[in-house]
Amino acid sequence: MEVSCRGILLPLRIVFKAAIARVIITPKKVLVVFSNGPNTLNSWYNNGIKRTKRTDVLNTQTSFEQHLLTPEYLANPYSFYQQLRSEEPVHWSDTTNTWLLMCYSDVVASLHNPILKTGGKPEAHLRHLPDVVQTELAPLQRHYETWMSFVDPPDHTRLRGLVSNGFTPRMLEDLRPRIQQIVDNLLEEAQEGRQMDIISDFAYPLPATIICEMLGLPPEDYQQFHEWSAALVEFFGSGIAEEETARRTQRNLLALSDYLRNVFAQRRRHPKNDLISALVGEEEGDSLSEDELFGMCVFLLAAGHETTVSLIGNGLLALMRHPDQMKKLQSDPSLIDTAVEELLRYDSPLQSLARVAEEELEINGKKIRKGEVVRPMLGAANRDPEQFPDPDRLDICRHPNRHVAFGFGIHYCLGGPLARIEGQIAINSFIQRMPQVQIASESLQWRKNLSNRNPLSLPVVF
Ligand code: HEM
Repeated sequence: MEVSCRGILLPLRIVFKAAIARVIITPKKVLVVFSNGPNTLNSWYNNGIKRTKRTDVLNTQTSFEQHLLTPEYLANPYSFYQQLRSEEPVHWSDTTNTWLLMCYSDVVASLHNPILKTGGKPEAHLRHLPDVVQTELAPLQRHYETWMSFVDPPDHTRLRGLVSNGFTPRMLEDLRPRIQQIVDNLLEEAQEGRQMDIISDFAYPLPATIICEMLGLPPEDYQQFHEWSAALVEFFGSGIAEEETARRTQRNLLALSDYLRNVFAQRRRHPKNDLISALVGEEEGDSLSEDELFGMCVFLLAAGHETTVSLIGNGLLALMRHPDQMKKLQSDPSLIDTAVEELLRYDSPLQSLARVAEEELEINGKKIRKGEVVRPMLGAANRDPEQFPDPDRLDICRHPNRHVAFGFGIHYCLGGPLARIEGQIAINSFIQRMPQVQIASESLQWRKNLSNRNPLSLPVVF
């Protein structure tokens, strides 16, 4: 087996855990060649729970593992990504029990690889917990298995087909005036106070209101939806969920379930012109089971706003930290299309996805065993210098800009066009109306999550 280190001499602090390894130095790269004897892979049992520890991989990145999800890491994961990408671009993370893919090419290839399935992820988050707890959390596991982004073909094709009609470019373009209206109202309210929290006062209410209106849910309940969906996101982004997090998530899920099943019953009796009524119709026509209907609505509710909050929040933060780029956009608002693409690349709302290996495979020289979870790190891919020249520079005119913030392949984000419209209107309107906006405090607290990335609050003055 070969481990390619992309042309960089291995640092001296590398500790070889593999018993038999030899190093070959070629003009272009250092190769570490392991024997593939039976002892190079090791499994052990802990409290009756099966854990699989990889000892055939370099254990060089202890500093990465130690820093994972620390405040320093959350404030700027990109310097950690950069180090790992150059030293060990396919990294086994003991902390998260997953393989982290740091290069653009590996991320794109993995999202196209049919051997890497989306299914089974909830199980991977819980498999370290005692069997009895896993059994109690069965409703939670079953629920995630109905989310479209965790379902593989042919069911995925059916589910995506059912909901795609609600996301045609034409329908989304028609939402522009309503999005502008909500943005204007939010900014007008905020302007009176001369200070605001961009996350709670602006970035969150906009997409939450829009997705509630699309689904046909009362926007005044959105604070409650946010609490429920935030719990689901927290569970997923935790990597390996703590028992209390998993139990809390399940409680929130069951509360949301009661709420939505009540709405479904109302729509069955009195259909309206909204997504829930259309999906309830599909359920009655046997194209969708009740669990799938519930899963679809919860997923759209969460996917429809959690990530767009990050686009608006992280995007405005990046502009405030780069006044030259902010001024450029203020003086030429027509640059907003490329600006939003660059903001999606520069500080991506979703930093990682997850896939399960259906069979053994090799990625960039590393052997991935059947059943292991691989995390394509979108945030790292979007800063890969092999794909993006000078990747740490924010350039709102960057072209080409083939970022992977919306994923790749069959699960490519269905709501991407909507998120783009929301982001373009929100960011342009904000910086035009508040030209003097400044960050009120640089000590930001970031969401403790491997995947969703945004500051928990972003106080500004203007
Ligand atoms: C900036 C905002 C957004 C970002 C960065 C984003 C990102 C992503 C990514 C990376 C995926 C791929 C997941 C995977 O491959 O496992 C995805 C899937 C999806 N997203 Fe988004 N998303 C955003 C906004 C939205 C919005 C507003 C909606 C809907 C209202 C939405 C609906 C979906 C759906 C339905 C899928 C699943 C597609 C499938 O599995 O076929 N997203 N999103």
